[in-house]
Amino acid sequence: MHDDEAMVCLCFQVPQRKIANYLRRNDLKVASQLSECLGAGTGCGWCVPYLRKMFEQHQQGRLPALDMNAQEYAASRRQYREAKKNNGPTDSPDHERTG
Ligand code: FES
Repeated sequence: MHDDEAMVCLCFQVPQRKIANYLRRNDLKVASQLSECLGAGTGCGWCVPYLRKMFEQHQQGRLPALDMNAQEYAASRRQYREAKKNNGPTDSPDHERTG
């Protein structure tokens, strides 16, 4: 399944098509440069491994694709964000430190 309008970065509403075009038009050296494409990956961080995968696909001369059910993708992101919330920020200032 290849859905061009599938959202890769849900935080910034960046669809697969935009990422693929950006990769095609720009000669990126590292995957993190995709953040310059509408801020992709700079929100919750959930989509970062997927952006990296799309970058690698492009490097291999393949069509970058998410290849994931949009609902599953959104649901997994929700879980990821929940888990992050429950764990709390790692550098929380009010977190009691011992030792
Ligand atoms: S989904 Fe891309 S940063 Fe949150």
